[in-house]
Order: sequence, then structure tokens, then C-alpha cells
Amino acid sequence: MKIIVRKNYEEVSIEAANIFEREIRENPNTVLGMATGSTPIGMSKELIRRHKEEGLDFSGVLTFNLDEYLGLHEDNENSYRYFMDNEFFNHINILKENTHVPKSDIDVLDETCSQYDDMIFKAGGVRLQVLGVGSNGHIAFNEPAERLNAYTSIVDLTEETIKDNSRFFDSMDQVPKKAVSMGMGSILKSEKIVLIATGKNKAQAIAKLIKDPYISTHLPVSFLLAHRDVTIICDKDAYSLVE
Ligand code: F6R
Repeated sequence: MKIIVRKNYEEVSIEAANIFEREIRENPNTVLGMATGSTPIGMSKELIRRHKEEGLDFSGVLTFNLDEYLGLHEDNENSYRYFMDNEFFNHINILKENTHVPKSDIDVLDETCSQYDDMIFKAGGVRLQVLGVGSNGHIAFNEPAERLNAYTSIVDLTEETIKDNSRFFDSMDQVPKKAVSMGMGSILKSEKIVLIATGKNKAQAIAKLIKDPYISTHLPVSFLLAHRDVTIICDKDAYSLVE
């Protein structure tokens, strides 16, 4: 595991954008794994800037997002599809049909979940996956539990995650309690993984990941210890409990 510690959110975002830019320039038809939440926003902004000012070309790129709240239509501004379009896809030259966010507002959900993993497989697999981490150590929406899903599935969100995510909603009761999320197996199949974490509320999860040589379903991010190409980029606050 490679660990990069930077001063603040801006520097972390630039470091992550550098890895993404390198991948896109080396493999113009690459398959990227995208995450939502606050953490990757700075990286997306930097990639948008590089697209507009430096010609970084997304026309051959395919993306797959990690997750989507259950039951939210893509027009709903709290849906992750809406978020991705607004924060990223609408500002670069990616083809809309090359972007994928799990669909979650339809009847045949189980089928859709397994089709999502198939689609990734048929695209050749994710080459570079960006991850954020929940304050409780979740990745995507794989929450701490006795067992974790291997494949894309419908999942229950924990109270902690519902509380963490309520900042984006008008009230707590509007925060969905379930989501569709790529499973641990789906994520670990990515060739390269970049985990970004900033802020004190991530410090505990990051310290456990870096210091404890154990994999536990109660700390889903610890499964990254079993992957051979993980880069953790964090700011000083997120790294503060490591030393
Ligand atoms: C979002 C996702 C989540 C977030 C995590 C951290 O697609 O998969 O695991 O990465 O909840 O969220 P932020 O970045 O808002 O702290």
C-alpha cells in the first residue's frame, strides 16, 4: 500500500487528479470507477480544469459509479446520478452513454444489480477506482457488518451513515435508508485503487487501516489490505491518528 500525506484538501485533490490524468493519457479508452460524496469533488474540479485548459480528453473514457440511493430517480437532485452529471460529467467531453451509475428506481432491482457487475466485466473491468471512506470505515455503501456482499446488491445504510449524509438533505427523514452498492468483490477486482480521505472524522478509519494488520468485515476499508495496488492519499487531519 502506498501512502501519500498532503497538507490539505486541495493538495490531496491535485495528487488524486494527477493519478487520474496519467491513467487517461496512457489509456484514452480507460474504464474509471467513480465515487460521490464530498471527498472527490476537488479532484473532479481539477480534472475539469485540466480538460478545459489543458485538453485532457475524456471522449474515449468509460465510467462506473459505486452506488446510488435506493428509489431516487436520476432527476432527483439528491441522487448520485444527478450529482455526477452536475459535478463532473456535464463539464467534460465524456459521452453520456459511457457513464454508468447503478439504477435504483425500478422494479427489477435484483436483476439490475447483477447486470451492473456484468456490464463492468464486459467493459474489461475497472482500471482505476477512486474511493472515499465513511467515518465508520465503509467503502461504497458496504457498511460494517457480520458479512459483506461480494457483488452489487441492495444494502441497508447504518445510522451513522444516514447521519453523516443528512448534511445534503433538508431533513433527516429525507435521507434514504437503503442504497444499491457495488460489493466488495466488485471493488477489489479493479486493477488500481486510489483511496482519498480528508478531515479529522476519517482519522480513526485511516489509522486502523494503516496500523492494524487485520481484515475485518466490521471495517470494510480493511479489505484494501488484500489488494495489490492501493494508493491512500490523505491530508494531515485524516492521517493524524497514525503516528
Ligand atoms: C459514495 C461512496 C461513499 C463515500 C463515503 C465518504 O459514492 O461510495 O462510500 O465515499 O461515504 O463520503 P464523503 O466523501 O462525503 O465523506
